[in-house]
Amino acid sequence: MIHPDDRAEVLANFRQTLASEDVWYAEYRFRRADGSWAHVQDRGHLVRDQNGTPVRMVGGISDVSSRKLLEERLHNAQRLEAVGQLTGGIAHDFNNLLTVVLGNAECLVEMLKDQPDAQIFAKMISDAAERGADLTRRLLTFARKQSLTPAATELNSLINGLQPMLQRVLNRHVSFHFKPQPALPVTMIDVAQMENALLNLCVNARDAMPDGGVLTIETSMCHLDKPESVGDVSLAAGDYVVVSVSDTGSGIAAEHRDKVFEPFFTTKPEGKGSGLGLAMVYGFVRQSGGAITVDSSPGEGVRFDLYLPVVEAEQHASGLPSRNSDIVLGSERVLLVEDEPQVRELARVSLESLGYQVVVAESGEQALARLDAAQDSDARIDLLFTDVQMTGMNGPELAAQALARQPGLPVLYTSGFVGSTGRGPLPHTDFPVLCKPYRRAELADAIAQVFGRTAH
Ligand SMILES: Nc1ncnc2c1ncn2[C@@H]1O[C@H](COP(=O)(O)OP(=O)(O)OP(=O)(O)O)[C@@H](O)[C@H]1O
Ligand SMILES: [Mg+2]
Repeated sequence: MIHPDDRAEVLANFRQTLASEDVWYAEYRFRRADGSWAHVQDRGHLVRDQNGTPVRMVGGISDVSSRKLLEERLHNAQRLEAVGQLTGGIAHDFNNLLTVVLGNAECLVEMLKDQPDAQIFAKMISDAAERGADLTRRLLTFARKQSLTPAATELNSLINGLQPMLQRVLNRHVSFHFKPQPALPVTMIDVAQMENALLNLCVNARDAMPDGGVLTIETSMCHLDKPESVGDVSLAAGDYVVVSVSDTGSGIAAEHRDKVFEPFFTTKPEGKGSGLGLAMVYGFVRQSGGAITVDSSPGEGVRFDLYLPVVEAEQHASGLPSRNSDIVLGSERVLLVEDEPQVRELARVSLESLGYQVVVAESGEQALARLDAAQDSDARIDLLFTDVQMTGMNGPELAAQALARQPGLPVLYTSGFVGSTGRGPLPHTDFPVLCKPYRRAELADAIAQVFGRTAH
């Protein structure tokens, strides 16, 4: 039996073939004996009598369901890839703009201290820019262009630590179970982003169980002997920790399942969901070298499996440790390298206001010349503060050459996003990265940490 949704089109096509052609071809869904639907290709050749009246059709039907499924997966992955590239590009440019807006608005707030009437306007600009920065951050996460700070993490303790917060998020009709796999190996992930991902999944589960139910988080291990396709990606061979989040809620309709990771896809009423939660989880997991799968039938709840690669515990990356709230001043000489004039000017003003002496360069090449000049004049540079993405020589290339000239020179990167390929952390993970847009206090903090100072 032909699927009711396909029947009209198949019949129309068939009639047309009878009237004017000798070859018949159609693709449609056909019911198997067990009641499931197969995707079939139907080919036939019409045999006509001497008057041209069709008398018979010779041909065959082949089941192409598995190929169709593969095609759909590929198509889905490509679509997400394309949306990701577009989103990442736009978000990156907005980040630069917002860095300027936010920074200048903060300066205004500071300058207008004695004029509260006028200060309100500057505060509104700064608040709106922060909301914009928050949105671009979420989009960059989806586009796998977030600056991650991966650290060796034991996921069972991370989830344990999150429990009090999860309990608060869930309503009291939802019971929460955690099933940790003992002796779980360590993964290299960004802790804040992982917590955020789990929180997003739990909020979704809660929303799907308004009348109560069970939310389960489970950890397990998975070993792949060879590269294998998981979700819409091919995972490298190796060991993975799998974090599964499942609920007993409404489930996801079949026609929505391929769309849930798309940014802005939501079935929630206007103002309730932005449709960015799962897009962020997807981007984060992929950027961490893992994969995510979703399994659901309507009415039977949903299960998300997050595959995160296991790494050697020795591979610790030195990221920026926790933030301080007090602003730490300094007096060292900072070589500031940034090719975007407005961002450069803002960074210069911020650095100077923090007490630093600033030497400015518009490119990597210029920065090296400044470094040489500084060494000759005995006014040594104490810190290289450089953008990562620049036309010409990029940040990491510059850092390598600067270190060859002045070994031991501390380096602080700043970036709107990580690497043009969007994969993994920066090539030089031994140097910290300050994400754009940053506030003056965050800049102060990042530099203070490079120099091993803390807030008083
Ligand atoms: N556990 C779940 N059970 C049922 N449906 C789900 C579940 N998780 C996600 N979905 C479906 O996927 C859609 C997208 O989820 P996503 O988290 O990306 O966005 P959102 O929750 O709608 O909005 P946001 O997370 O930005 O507030 C949801 O609107 C919902 O239809
Ligand atoms: Mg959500």
